[in-house]
This record gives sequence, structure tokens and C-alpha cells, in this order.
Amino acid sequence: MSKAILVAGGAGYIGSHVCKTLAMSGYLPVTLDNLCTGREDFVRFGPLVKADVADTAVVRATVMKHGIKAVIDLAGSIEVGESVRDPLKYYGNNLAAKIAFLGTLKECGVNAFVFSSTAAVYGEPKAVPIPETHPTQPKNPYGWSKALFDRYARRAADAGHEHPRRAVHQAVGVGVLVTTNMPWPLMLRSVADVVCWVVPFCAICWIVSALTPPAL
Ligand SMILES: NC(=O)c1ccc[n+]([C@@H]2O[C@H](COP(=O)([O-])OP(=O)(O)OC[C@H]3O[C@@H](n4cnc5c(N)ncnc54)[C@H](O)[C@@H]3O)[C@@H](O)[C@H]2O)c1
Repeated sequence: MSKAILVAGGAGYIGSHVCKTLAMSGYLPVTLDNLCTGREDFVRFGPLVKADVADTAVVRATVMKHGIKAVIDLAGSIEVGESVRDPLKYYGNNLAAKIAFLGTLKECGVNAFVFSSTAAVYGEPKAVPIPETHPTQPKNPYGWSKALFDRYARRAADAGHEHPRRAVHQAVGVGVLVTTNMPWPLMLRSVADVVCWVVPFCAICWIVSALTPPAL
């Protein structure tokens, strides 16, 4: 199995820490990022491919070059207020671009895909902590763009489960992480680091391992 994992949005706030954790776990994080909000100097643990997730040719070439078998997707537009002012930007970047991305990955035979969702998909939660079974009812275009791609990706994965022998070619296995707000100061305290970063990222690595098929 390839030790390279493609991290879309790896130059961002969460993505840069995912890359760090992957590197500490013995993986090579290959960052795919168009740097629209990310920072080049955040990419310290593997190569940076400066491109949009919707750039089919670059995604295909990157997957081939690094033997990518698994993807962690943290790329996206994330500001609720901006999404209300400019909803088409959010449906374009968080839904249309991601559908193109998932399609390219499927064509390339990548069938392990971890998607970073958001608690905004639940709108006003009826219970806290929010259970996985809570109905989704987003209150803004940001939440809707994430919820719609979440559903699209799950349906793509379900299609693969119905035809397990052809799943590698026909669909992409999908794991969805619902991320809650994590303020910057928490990153500076060691105990909080363990709670906020190490545990969730171990979970990410576990999900990637679980979704990645053994080498043929
Ligand atoms: N930060 C939080 O508290 C939080 C909470 C809930 C969910 N999330 C989710 O986690 C993910 C990462 O959030 P973040 O806080 O690190 O945001 P961020 O803005 O710091 O990182 C996003 C990264 O994606 C890149 N990007 C955006 N669109 C792209 C595209 N089309 N192609 C390639 N790269 C692109 C940006 O340049 C940036 O580096 C997002 O999907 C977000 O919805 C974050």
C-alpha cells in the first residue's frame, strides 16, 4: 500500500495539522491546495501541488505520480457570513468542485475518501452533544453546500456497496468527519492539543486505513 496520502486543503488551518500528524504516523502527506485562503509556509511535511481540486489534469497527474490510494479532503470555503452574501461561490467551491474532484478520483481508482463536513449541517441542534443520527437542517449556504456534498458522496459510496466486486472502479468509499469549531488558542496548550488534535487525527488515520483496501 502506498504511504502517500493526498490532503486537499493541506495548506489551511486544519489541513496543515493533518499533514503534520500524517507525517508523524509515517505517511507522506501530499498537499493539493489552490492557496485561496491557505499559506504556502504551512506546508512543511510533504510536497505542495498548487492547484484547484476541480483541475482534473493536475489531480490525475498527482495521483499517478505519488501512487495515491487515499484522500483526506479539507479544501473548501468556510465563512458562514460570506456564504450568505455570495451563495454561488459556496455551491461552486464546496459542491460543484468537489463533485468534479470525486469523479476524477474514481476514474483514477482511488476509493478511500475522507470528507471534512461541519456541525453547520445540523442548523439549530435539538440536542448537544449532537448525535450522528441528528437530522440535518442547515441554516445558511455554507451548511447547505456541505450537507449536499455529504449526501452526494454517501450515495456514490452506497452505489459501490451494492456492487462490491466492482466497487474499486465504480465508486469511492467515503468517510465523513463532522468538524466542530476549534479556536486557534487551543492549539497552543499541550493538553488541549491532545484532546483537540491527536485524538481526532488518530481517528482520521484509522478511517483512512479502514477505507483503503489491501494491496492487490
Ligand atoms: N476551522 C473550523 O473550526 C472548522 C469547523 C467545521 C468544519 N471545518 C471544515 O474543515 C475544513 C478545513 O477548514 P479550515 O478551518 O482548515 O479552513 P482553511 O480556509 O484554513 O483551509 C481550507 C484550505 O482549502 C484550500 N482550498 C479552498 N478551496 C479549494 C479548492 N477549490 N481547491 C484547492 N484548495 C482549496 C484553501 O486554500 C485552504 O488552504 C473545511 O472543509 C471546513 O468546512 C472547519
